[in-house]
Amino acid sequence: MEITNVTEYEAIAKQKLPKMVYDYYASGAEDQWTLAENRNAFTKILFRPRILIDVSNIDMTTTVLGFKLSMPIMIAPTAMQKMAHPEGEYATARAASAAGTIMTLSSWATSSVEEVASTGPGIRFFQLYVYKDRHVVAQLVRRAERAGFKAIALTVDTPRLGRREADIKNRFTLPPFLTLKNFEGLDLGKMDEASDSGLASYVAGQIDRSLSWKDVKWLQTITQLPILVKGVLTAEDARLSIQAGAAGIIVSNHGARQLDYVPATIMALEEVVKAAQGRVPVFLDGGVRRGTDVFKALALGASGIFIGRPVVFSLAAEGEAGVRKVLKMLREEFELTMALSGCRSLKEITRDHIVTEWDLPH
Ligand code: FNR
Repeated sequence: MEITNVTEYEAIAKQKLPKMVYDYYASGAEDQWTLAENRNAFTKILFRPRILIDVSNIDMTTTVLGFKLSMPIMIAPTAMQKMAHPEGEYATARAASAAGTIMTLSSWATSSVEEVASTGPGIRFFQLYVYKDRHVVAQLVRRAERAGFKAIALTVDTPRLGRREADIKNRFTLPPFLTLKNFEGLDLGKMDEASDSGLASYVAGQIDRSLSWKDVKWLQTITQLPILVKGVLTAEDARLSIQAGAAGIIVSNHGARQLDYVPATIMALEEVVKAAQGRVPVFLDGGVRRGTDVFKALALGASGIFIGRPVVFSLAAEGEAGVRKVLKMLREEFELTMALSGCRSLKEITRDHIVTEWDLPH
């Protein structure tokens, strides 16, 4: 049967993938309250569409950090994509490039920065986890820069790994035929089998829990690339990110995989946008599955959104064609939403085109 929306790929992926892999992709932390809320919160936002506006031409193009994109829909970093499909990150990179948008490559990819660069032209960001060994970090950032990556998305919500109970039950670990390719030569490419989650043990052993604002400054001494702080949920941290030199902010709760009972990102977005005061662009990820979700995020002030799970699920189902289809469906839904709301370009999308449950008097 024909696939008509992004969420349908999850059921196909669940059928195709080993349980350990599907659970790793799908899970959130602990009670998974935030996981459900990331989706649920979008239902608390309704449209105030405008009528009788000539919508025969819709322009979805935008500019992110100076790079022209076909649409404000981008790909978030998700680790270990070769567990989903043999072509893994290669397929994702090609699909993003074909769609005229950005792919963010995870530090924990199963393809290296050089390998992904070799797939051809494309605008790509590199997501960074900061290891205790800063030589490893400096070397990796330099490699990403040399491979043509255009920005660093610094993930700041993971000093320790969130408690994902499915991964503990499954004793999740990277399958033996794969490696975290960026770390292959550094003897950090494998995950030991652990008594609980192999990934949680890996993080505890390698990732720097002491990471702090001064390290955001340090990062700027080792790279010229703009830095996006990924994992901001409050106005306070939005202001500190800007003070620390961030070129942009990504409102993210890591797909609800880190601290449970943080708000849905779409609910935290406006507070961050207000604090940023237009000084840097603010992006959002978490639970975006429909073109209407993209519109809602932009109406609340986001400059663009990123998708995570839809990429790994569509990759599992259909490889590169699946990821292309996800990007196409979201694009078409977003275009339709713009037309039916009376917006012809992204700058015509305003706060007045939506009303949220939290706007209404109680
Ligand atoms: C992630 N995410 C993530 N983030 C990051 O900074 N580095 C990473 O390696 C990963 N890996 C990863 C794997 C998987 C399977 C998932 C689901 C998520 C978080 C990701 O970048 C993004 O914040 C969320 O996925 C966005 O939410 P949705 O679109 O998955 O709901």
